Order: sequence, then C-alpha cells, then structure tokens
Amino acid sequence: MATTPRARSDVPYVCTACGTTSLRWVGRCGNCGEWNTLGPASVRVHRPGRTPAANPTPAVALRDVSTEGARPLPTGVSELDRVMGGGVVGGSVTLLFGPPGIGKSTLLFQVLSSVAAGGVDVMLASAEESLTQVSGRAARMGPVPRHLLALEGPDVEAIEAAVGRHRPALVVVDSLQSVSDPDLAQPAGSLAQVRACVERLTRLAKSSGVPLLLVGHVTKDGDLAGPRAVEHLVDTVLSFDGDRHHALRVLTSVKHRFGPTGEVGIFEMRDDGLRPVPDPGPLMLGDRMAGVPGSVVVPVLQGRRPLLVEVQALLGPGTGGGAGVASRPHTLGIDAARANLLVAVLACRTAVDVPVPAEFFVAAVGGITVSEPAADLAVALAMASVVGRRPVPADLVVFGELGLAGEVRSVPGADRRLAEAHRAGFTRALVPASALGDATASAAATPAGLVVHGVRTLAEALEVAGTEAGSRTGPGTMPGWSTVRAASNRSTTRWR
Ligand code: TYD
Ligand code: MG
Repeated sequence: MATTPRARSDVPYVCTACGTTSLRWVGRCGNCGEWNTLGPASVRVHRPGRTPAANPTPAVALRDVSTEGARPLPTGVSELDRVMGGGVVGGSVTLLFGPPGIGKSTLLFQVLSSVAAGGVDVMLASAEESLTQVSGRAARMGPVPRHLLALEGPDVEAIEAAVGRHRPALVVVDSLQSVSDPDLAQPAGSLAQVRACVERLTRLAKSSGVPLLLVGHVTKDGDLAGPRAVEHLVDTVLSFDGDRHHALRVLTSVKHRFGPTGEVGIFEMRDDGLRPVPDPGPLMLGDRMAGVPGSVVVPVLQGRRPLLVEVQALLGPGTGGGAGVASRPHTLGIDAARANLLVAVLACRTAVDVPVPAEFFVAAVGGITVSEPAADLAVALAMASVVGRRPVPADLVVFGELGLAGEVRSVPGADRRLAEAHRAGFTRALVPASALGDATASAAATPAGLVVHGVRTLAEALEVAGTEAGSRTGPGTMPGWSTVRAASNRSTTRWR
C-alpha cells in the first residue's frame, strides 16, 4: 500500500499541476481536481527580489516620470513590429504562445538575427533544443550575425548570470516549459516551475532593462500547462497560430501594456523561414476557382485588420433521399454550431429547397479560423449556391451577421472591410443595409468603383447574389448583374 505523507503544518505542499499550495497533504488537489499531484514545496535558498523594509520606496510625482523607457525599439521584423505597436520596449516581458511546430522558435530566431544584424549583442537562451539543433535551423535561414549569442540549458540562474555578463539588447527564452529554477523541487514544465521562472525572468527584465521574449507552448485544443496561467505576470502576450499544414501564420496581441491589442501580423512559412506578408490577399485567394458554386469571399476582421477569406460549401453523398434527420454540417475553420443554425435559417426563411437530409461541408480556405458572426452571410450564401448549383459572382464580397428570423444584422468595421475588398479588385459588395450609413459616411476617403448593396434579409441577399432557388434564369446560370441591379429597389451605393 502506498504511504501517505503525514500532514505537517510547517511543510506546505504544492500541486505540480496548477501550483496551488496546501498546508496539508491531500490525495486530490482542491483547486484543479488532479490526483496525486501534491508534493512538498522546497524552501527557497535565496530571495533576490526581497528588499529590506527599512528603506521604503518613496512615491513620486507622476508627471515627472520619464516615458523614455516605454518607447518601442523596432526589431526589423515588420509584422511583429506592427503587432507590438512599433517594436519591443526596454525591460518588458513578452510571452509568445502557440501550438508546438507552428514556428515560434523560427519567428523569434529571426527577431534575434534582425536585431543582431544591426551590430548589437542579443542572446538566445535555448532550454529546449541543443545548440546543434538551433544552428541547424539557423542554417536554413541564412548567415548568422556575429552578435547573436546562444546559451544552452534549462537553468534560469544561468540565464540571469549570462544577461549580467553580456548585457544583450534582447533575450529570447525558448521555452518556458523547459526552463527550471534550481531552487524548486518540481520538474520543468510543471506549473509551479513555469510560474517561478516567469517571476524570476520578469524581475531580471525589470532590474536589467533588457527586454525578454518568452516562448510558451499550448496544445492544439488551447489547453496550456502553463503559459496562459502566467499571462498576468508579463507585459505583452502574443498568440501565434495557423494551420501547420498551411503556410499562413497569424500573430495576434492578446494583451499589450504599451499599446492597443488586437493588431494582427501575418507571415508565410517558407523553406527559409517566416516571411512577413503585408498584403495577404494573393496568398489567401491565389488558388481560388472563379465560377464554381459554393464559393463566397468574406472580408473578416483579424483584430483591426481586414482579411479576405474564401468560404466554400459542398453537398456530400449523404444528401437527399427524402427521409431522415438533417446532419450537422461538417466544418473546417468555421464554427459548427453557427453553421448548423444557418442551415435552419436557410431552410426556414428562404425559398431555397434545402434537401433532407443535407450533408453540408463548409470550410474556410487557407488554414484560417473564422469565428466572426460577420461570416454568417457568406456561409449561408455558399450553402445556397451549392444547393442551387449557381455560382456567386466572382467579383462579389459579402458580410453580415444572420439572425434566426433571416434578418441581416450589422457588424463592425464595414468601411475597413469594403476598402480591403476594393483594394483587392472586387467590384461588388453585399452588406447589411443598416451598415450602409457607416460605409458611405467614410466613402469620401475611398476610391471609386465598388458597388455596395445593402440587404435586410437573407432572401434579399440570395436574390441579389443570383443564387436564389427558382430564380427566373435557368439552372446552372447566373442572372446578369445589371438585371439584378435594375430590378432591385434596395439601397445600392456606389463609392465615389
Ligand atoms: P519551429 O519554429 O521549430 O516551431 P515551434 O518553435 O513553434 O515548435 O518550426 C516548426 C516547423 O516549421 C517545422 O516543422 C519546420 C517548419 N519550418 C519551415 O517550414 N521552414 C523553415 O525555414 C523553418 C526554420 C522551419
Ligand atoms: Mg520551438
């Protein structure tokens, strides 16, 4: 029989899964519910952050405090600088998290290379990979600058010492799951270790003025043995995501103490590293086949940045036959529950003859995940288009949220979405009628040539897009756009 450690009030215990401390040993952690995760917390040998209370810090007049240190220094990796409001702030701590294999090490290595190429020392603390592995990756990305220093090993104390010795302008710690504080008994990667290391590294950044970039892994389903639990300890949290099997990578700021959040950076993973993509249009829509039923383009907002995404729908072999309950749509990059609601809206609020059962497949192309309700109209139109076997015009973009009554509801950022569609060469847009006020208000600043149709219902949208079932034109054809416009009494605006 396993022996249970005796509870002793002078030996606190720490859960290795969530970091919660307990005065008594218990078999199951009261906080996270994990079994057999409590172990004795070790006693710290020294406490570097501790200052004697005899010399308390005085308060100062806030207006006399210099903002000099908060000015970001550009790293030269343009899309990262964009997300961080210009660059990295001295003494700040940034956490970059994302699933394994997405390109975190690659991105931060490029940041180090870029800064080192300017002639200042930078340092990579590689706790996860050997320096041989690191140089293997580096070799794929071109010559390594002389000023790029590297330190191998998990010991957080060695990182502190190396920063003191070399005074680098920037330090990357890769990764948080691999560094460890030798004063703690817990294994590297346990929450207690991750927390302790982030605390030490944060103190290091603040005391030395050296900015730190820390890598943290999360699993694909967003479960994170660590990184998210230390978000509150750091200044900036960046998420790096995308589909490993696609080239597109999206960098988003989740938290940023030195500027606005929600800014998005886009990269393409190539053989020689990550390439910033200032104009993602060609990458997103480059392989699009015009004139195929079931394909609709929607300008989504990633942060404040509009991105044109192709939504595709297909009817599977399990479709039709009359009997049976409609199956939920199979989705990729589109919220399945929303797509399911949209099938119901399409069947109940429009004349589209949705087959029963209907086996819909709906996907956002390019490995991107679209979570915005603004994509509702595109998803519904793509499904209607595939049911009616009528393509949506290739030069049309659509956006709008759909309600259960079949109404098209307004979404934020109509003017930014329209501007991006126009820039990419689209000439027509289907938008919520209620959004037209916004769009036309700022239309003065936009170039000519985009015809914007405001629609109030999904049925109206189908009519304008020419995907309406039982439309006057024959199956497989599309009504001429001019006919639709002439016949339409809806609000139509041409941007001037
Ligand atoms: P990596 O940066 O090691 O990912 P992470 O640190 O997030 O775990 O990169 C992972 C993948 O990127 C790897 O499978 C190979 C690929 N890759 C390229 O396609 N091109 C490149 O130039 C490099 C360096 C990596
Ligand atoms: Mg890595």
